[in-house]
Amino acid sequence: MIPILRSALPIARYLGIQTCRASSLVNAPEYLKTRRLGSVVFRRSLSKTLVHPFYSSLKIGREELLRFSQFTSLEKAEHLTCAAVSQHMGLGKPIAMSELQQSWETLVSDSSLNLSSLAKYNANDPYENFLEIFTRRVRPLLKERLLTEYSSADFIRTGTELVWSTQKPLIPLSFDGHPQNHTIPIPEKLQENPLIQFLFNATQEDAVGAWTLATPLIDEKTLIHEYGCWNGENLLGLLFFGFESGVHPGCCIGTDINIGALNVAETISEVFSLRAPMVQFHLSNALCSNTVDISQFKCQKQVKMALRLISILEPSDAADFLIQAKRNMTQDCSLIVSYALPQGNKYETNKRLASSPQNSVKEDSFEHGIIFRAPFDYPGLLSQLVELPDRTDQVVNCYYNTEGFEKLVHQCGYRIVNILTVGKHSDNYRVVVVLKAKR
Ligand SMILES: C[S@@+](CC[C@H](N)C(=O)[O-])C[C@H]1O[C@@H](n2cnc3c(N)ncnc32)[C@H](O)[C@@H]1O
Repeated sequence: MIPILRSALPIARYLGIQTCRASSLVNAPEYLKTRRLGSVVFRRSLSKTLVHPFYSSLKIGREELLRFSQFTSLEKAEHLTCAAVSQHMGLGKPIAMSELQQSWETLVSDSSLNLSSLAKYNANDPYENFLEIFTRRVRPLLKERLLTEYSSADFIRTGTELVWSTQKPLIPLSFDGHPQNHTIPIPEKLQENPLIQFLFNATQEDAVGAWTLATPLIDEKTLIHEYGCWNGENLLGLLFFGFESGVHPGCCIGTDINIGALNVAETISEVFSLRAPMVQFHLSNALCSNTVDISQFKCQKQVKMALRLISILEPSDAADFLIQAKRNMTQDCSLIVSYALPQGNKYETNKRLASSPQNSVKEDSFEHGIIFRAPFDYPGLLSQLVELPDRTDQVVNCYYNTEGFEKLVHQCGYRIVNILTVGKHSDNYRVVVVLKAKR
């Protein structure tokens, strides 16, 4: 058992147990290949290239778009291949053999990956094959440090974090051809802008709400920091939205506990020439004291963001996060968070699951709202992989009522300066809140 667990550790960081909308991967390239987006953005970026140093290297030309669309199909292949390896290791859901072969062939035949020397998929040694793929992919973080060097103990404390750190991310800026509906309209002067239309179509409403609230707070002296940034989707959206609105930050960082998601974020940003030192992605637990040295950025103020992070945290962890995020926040700094209200389809589904006798989802109320938890799927792993193995449940979703959330942020030393409620068209009703540290 021990060797399997050892090798499952790094594997678990990438795999699993995912909630994938594979169709979004299939359709995004088609959309991008229409050239409409490509040519317009290309012209725009050329005309704006010299405008501001933050974007001085931003070039979204045909070549970048082609690389991007190629990336999306490779990502799908990689995703399927990993799922199969994961299954072999006893994790994750079954996958059809034909799908696996097809995805493996797509990966191996791609010359940019330099995988031609890779042996045929070997079901007896899936772990080696898996490492081959990830160490050969041109992902900046992986080039520097190999997958196996990460120790979960540094960053992963609970079963919920373990689950999130092992989800396989999809690429950002893709959608399945069914645009998101929004109650937040596209700003008038950007209504004809295909990039903004694409972003709005692809993005959940609380993120659009956060861009809308964040943009007026950003200037050239601002460091944008998103906690729990996942595949960089919200940050990229905010940067493009800001770019099109004529707003330029000083620097931008995204932090998360999922190294795979960070790699996707970094790679896609690189495709658009948004790269270090201006744009950086770091492995960091939002609940621990910040492991990223922000003094390097020489920015006078920060706009921090954490979207849908609080909705997957235990209430006590949410309080810890808010307190951590407040450290070093001057009067100029803002924290934009979104949280879920107990209203909407997802909430109803959780309620239904919790009331069904077969299901293991449990509902609990707490001072500020309602939380749904489920037992961790692999309890045996907890004692070996996480710092707090006694917390055997994972958070499915945590909902706050408005008064409860206001009380929480007040207790953590914040005042609320702006609120936007969204959700008519989303899976959950969510509130986007701009917070400032109390004097
Ligand atoms: C529900 S997802 C939201 C992702 C993204 N912010 C969005 O709005 O789509 C939660 C994100 O928080 C990350 N996460 C979970 N626990 C974390 C922690 N303790 N520290 C940093 N990131 C965490 C997960 O890996 C995931 O990227």
